[in-house]
Amino acid sequence: MIPDKAPGEDVLHASGDLKKEAHVPTFEKYKELYVKSVESPEEFWADFIKDFFWKKKYNGKFLDYNFDVTKGEIYVKCMEGASTNICYNVLDRNVHDRKLGDRVAFYWEGNEPGDQKTVSYRELLQQVCKFANVLKSQGVKKGDRVSIYMPMVVELVVAMLACARIGAVHSIVFAGFSAESLCERIIDSRCCLLITADGFYRGDKLINLKLIADEALQKCRDKSFSVEKCIMLKHLTKEDEGTTPGSLSPPAKRACPDLQVPWNPEVDMCWHSLMYEASDECEPVWCDSEDPLFILYTSGSTGKPKGVLHTVSGYMLYTAATFKFVFDYHPDDVYWCTADIGWITGHSYITYGPLANGATSVLFEGLPTYPDVSRMWEIVDKYQVSKFYTAPTAIRLLMKYGSEPVQKYKRDSLKILGTVGEPINPEAWHWYYNVVGEKRCPVVDTFWQTETGGHVMTPLPAATPMKPGSATFPFFGVVPAILNESGEELEGPSEGYLVFKQPWPGVMRTVYGNQQRFETTYFKKFPGYYVTGDGCRRDKDGYYWITGRIDDMLNVSGHLLSTAEVESALVEHESVAEAAVVGRPHPVKGESLYCFVTLSDGINYNQKLEAELKKLVREKIGAIATPDYIQNAPSLPKTRSGKIMRRILRKIASNERDLGDVSTLADSSVIDQLFENRCSTAV
Ligand code: WT7
Repeated sequence: MIPDKAPGEDVLHASGDLKKEAHVPTFEKYKELYVKSVESPEEFWADFIKDFFWKKKYNGKFLDYNFDVTKGEIYVKCMEGASTNICYNVLDRNVHDRKLGDRVAFYWEGNEPGDQKTVSYRELLQQVCKFANVLKSQGVKKGDRVSIYMPMVVELVVAMLACARIGAVHSIVFAGFSAESLCERIIDSRCCLLITADGFYRGDKLINLKLIADEALQKCRDKSFSVEKCIMLKHLTKEDEGTTPGSLSPPAKRACPDLQVPWNPEVDMCWHSLMYEASDECEPVWCDSEDPLFILYTSGSTGKPKGVLHTVSGYMLYTAATFKFVFDYHPDDVYWCTADIGWITGHSYITYGPLANGATSVLFEGLPTYPDVSRMWEIVDKYQVSKFYTAPTAIRLLMKYGSEPVQKYKRDSLKILGTVGEPINPEAWHWYYNVVGEKRCPVVDTFWQTETGGHVMTPLPAATPMKPGSATFPFFGVVPAILNESGEELEGPSEGYLVFKQPWPGVMRTVYGNQQRFETTYFKKFPGYYVTGDGCRRDKDGYYWITGRIDDMLNVSGHLLSTAEVESALVEHESVAEAAVVGRPHPVKGESLYCFVTLSDGINYNQKLEAELKKLVREKIGAIATPDYIQNAPSLPKTRSGKIMRRILRKIASNERDLGDVSTLADSSVIDQLFENRCSTAV
């Protein structure tokens, strides 16, 4: 399946220097390891297993699973019977066994230039132990779910690792989500405590996070689920102000007058006062391999987000291994992943993967365009970043400003560049490779999902000759296939559904509280396979090219949104009878949201309504789901059975007149009307 030799033509190769030191220096070596990883996974993973500390070793099979719904329940178990603790492995082991206590774990760089902090592995361990004791003092126990809603600060890492240390399950909600979304996630995972912060700045915009968190908790109460414990970090307000150590008092609002920090002494607790009292010694709670580690919500095509569940040992091995090989990690690296920890990229490649390797990372709170569009490259030079990982949407955004803001900085420390989140268009790829990396740094285009836990299709920087826009070949242990609509595996050059034939250690284990949905979403369409929901093409050289989602999902700036979720927010407005949402290609965001709304009888479309609809979607889901276009559509194209034909709406949104086969359309006269009323400019 993987060619013996990579093609010699139409590809780009890594430099000789990089190959000399690389963990996997050649394509032949990759192939050899790949075959081993698939044929004898146990042997392949043994090197990683022995690197970690196990309170108890596993006794059964390395991987035990059923991927076939016709044969019973779907399950994946990795190293059953073993017991360990991931927090112990990423911190204590580094500090005590590997003597890396003084090594920098994070260079934290705030939103404002000059706002910075350096945290060593020893300090991180100390903070995590203290906070783990705080959680224990609040009654949090192994298996309890804790919701975390925080900006990009070191304390977010502290909070997640403290949960892991005591076997509690973290459920991080991206701080850009609305109160409604946070409430929905808290209730779904039945969390017992919320950790948040007073507020933060995104560029020059102030976010009153505590205010939103409070709204979410109130919404929970309204739905008869009450969480009456909230720990708030003072991020914008000064640590020592308004808080007598040991007391739980509201913070002083000195730093920013517009900051609103509602405070309910019955519920709210101050992070700093709790930490002040806590001991910095905390024995980890030993967990079984398959104990839950975290829940992370991702959009689902029916609208309700799915709580993707990952477990301890497999996720630990997989994030450690992918980080090491895909970024070709070496101890003198300074690594920077620009994602938010609220997404899976941040979980796997800011927290767990890098820390498992003892790596030094940059943790950046701000935006690529603030205070100006050189910020990223300034940070690269400041910390001498050698491995840099970002999203195509950020690359396209910066590309618009040309090469000058990049070239203001030297960037000579850079060795490897990575991208993730959506297919990268060759133009952006070339700009990244030529301008940012000066043709010196291989680009690793990493395809994966919240569900896969870590990279599944990706080049290895020194070994895999690159083709711009291709995620190339599978990572170790991953066996992809391309299926046609009837579920037949296609050989050679072909295009169809991307599926995986067997599990790898990092794959999700279930949808939290809904095994049924887990099986239906990923395993039902093609029994025996994990279905990614992405389309894929294999070229004559065996390279895989991800072509994008084939379900009702949109990818806006590298984040998945379901059309159903946005539609159900729109129809909550009393004037809207029906809504259909599709993606329209966008030069920076990848896709933008194009919404068709059918109004109730007697209602006229106007700008006030448009503004209300935009606001409604932001409130229901969050700013990432804000509609870019709203079109008044008195009727929608439907089949005779009443199903909306989104395929046609997509063409209308992007003004493509060639509609293909429209024979199943119930009333073809709606098409002209829709084209006539198209929005050509964003709202
Ligand atoms: C979906 C998963 C994995 C972290 C970020 C997104 C798309 C992701 C690539 C890539 C083409 C990609 C897919 C996938 N995607 N990376 N390198 N090339 N498409 O996580 O929110 O779970 O989204 O993002 O469509 O299914 P997510």
